[in-house]
Amino acid sequence: MSIVVEHLTKRFGTPGKEPASQLAPVLEDVSLQVGANEVVTVIGPSGSGKSTLLNCIAGLEPYEGSIEVDGTPVRSPHPAVAVVFQSPHLLPWRTTLGNVEYGLEVGRRMAKGERRQAAEAAIEVVGLTGSSSLYPRQLSGGMQQRVNIARALAVQPEVLLMDEPFGALDAITKERLQEQLQGIVADRKLSVLFITHDISEAIYLGDRVVTLSARPGRISLTKVIDEPRPRSLSLKQSAGFQALYGELWKSLA
Ligand SMILES: Nc1ncnc2c1ncn2[C@@H]1O[C@H](COP(=O)(O)OP(=O)(O)OP(=O)(O)O)[C@@H](O)[C@H]1O
Ligand SMILES: [Mg+2]
Repeated sequence: MSIVVEHLTKRFGTPGKEPASQLAPVLEDVSLQVGANEVVTVIGPSGSGKSTLLNCIAGLEPYEGSIEVDGTPVRSPHPAVAVVFQSPHLLPWRTTLGNVEYGLEVGRRMAKGERRQAAEAAIEVVGLTGSSSLYPRQLSGGMQQRVNIARALAVQPEVLLMDEPFGALDAITKERLQEQLQGIVADRKLSVLFITHDISEAIYLGDRVVTLSARPGRISLTKVIDEPRPRSLSLKQSAGFQALYGELWKSLA
């Protein structure tokens, strides 16, 4: 499935105040595409509208311009799109397994056994099998974020929208999940829009890296990462990688 964003502008209105069209935009004239089985990573300073972009694509915010998922204009959440939000928002009264199953209870009709199997498989992917019966308050921040990711994977989406999903993780867990995400994208032919603050994560994961300027967020640079997959983590040490890192760093500074 593909995502096509054309001339997206987003303004937040204040109810009862001047018309929204007169407010300064948060995002301005943003156009980008994510093809089938492609990962596009987005980096930009805090407040540049990255989460807003993701929320518009997820069908959670009205916008100006055009957004299509699988050729259909986005006006509400699309059933094949799963979102990993910046903060986990887990249900405190449900265990890890219960939280991951929750998305399957509300999203689609599935037999109980099948639901459990799908949830357990997703929990295994993020390395939390031993913590299935723990409640969110018993998990570290990084573990809660992994439950958040498992919840999105369990619904077997075709499009994944991820908002700094690995931001709260330690370096080792982060790299393990970066590697795993690559495998999942290849296996399931996912289209992924991945937001991050981490330049090297953006390069390692992206088929393309898009940088957003400070408010109003506009695309300031698009870089094609022409490296075959699967990519090994040692790629991060290569001279080509370091050169790209420098170029992206400069465009953000
Ligand atoms: N619901 C809202 N109402 C009004 N303004 C909003 C709303 N949501 C976001 N904004 C504003 O839009 C701008 C972009 O916010 P957004 O959360 O998209 O940034 P971001 O790039 O994701 O930042 P960060 O890297 O810190 O997560 C900010 O100035 C923010 O204050
Ligand atoms: Mg954000």
